[in-house]
Amino acid sequence: MDALFKRASVRRFTNDEVDDQAIEQLMRAAMAAPSAGNQQPWEFYVVRDASLKEQLAAASPFAKPAAAAPVVVVPCMRTEGVRFPECVMQDMSAATENLLLEVVEQGLGAVWMAVAPFEDRQRNVARALGLPENLQAFALVALGHPTATVQAKGPERYDAARVHMR
Ligand SMILES: Cc1cc2nc3c(=O)[nH]c(=O)nc-3n(C[C@H](O)[C@H](O)[C@H](O)COP(=O)(O)O)c2cc1C
Repeated sequence: MDALFKRASVRRFTNDEVDDQAIEQLMRAAMAAPSAGNQQPWEFYVVRDASLKEQLAAASPFAKPAAAAPVVVVPCMRTEGVRFPECVMQDMSAATENLLLEVVEQGLGAVWMAVAPFEDRQRNVARALGLPENLQAFALVALGHPTATVQAKGPERYDAARVHMR
C-alpha cells in the first residue's frame, strides 16, 4: 500500500484551503476503521476558525502546528455507553491512522498531536471546543497542503531483527 510508505508528519502548510469534498473523504476513511465489537466510539470536530485553532495550539506544549494549519481535525471519544471502554483508545488510534493515510491519498499532509491520555490537554481542548460531558478529546490532527515535498521515512525503518519467527 503506497500511502502507508509515503506518509510522514507534516507540520508546515501553505495557506491553500482544504475543500469540503476532501474533508468528507478523510472522515469516511477514519470511520472505516476497525473497532472493538464495532463500537465506533468516535466523533470528529473539524476546526477552521482561526481563534479556535490558536486555542487548540495552546492546549498542549507540542501542538504549535495547529495554529497555522488550514484545518485541525479533533477526533473525540465516547468512553461511557460503549461495550469495551478499555479498547476505546485503540479504536481511536485505528481511526486516526486511517485518517492520516487518506490525507496522503488526497495529496495533503498532516501531523497527529497527542491529547489523550493527558488530562490537562483534554481539559484544554474540551474548554476550547465546548465539548459535551460525554465526549473526550483524543488527539489533534493538523492538516493542509504541505509547504515542501514530504520526505517519508517509513521504508527506512524496516528492521529485520525486530521480526521474531517461532
Ligand atoms: C501518539 C502520537 C502522538 C504524537 N504527538 C505529537 C505531538 O504532540 N506533536 C508533534 O509535533 N508530533 C506528534 N506526533 C508525531 C510524531 O512525532 C511522529 O509520528 C514521529 O516523530 C515519526 O515521524 P513520522 O510521522 O514523520 O514518520 C505524535 C505521533 C503519535 C503516533
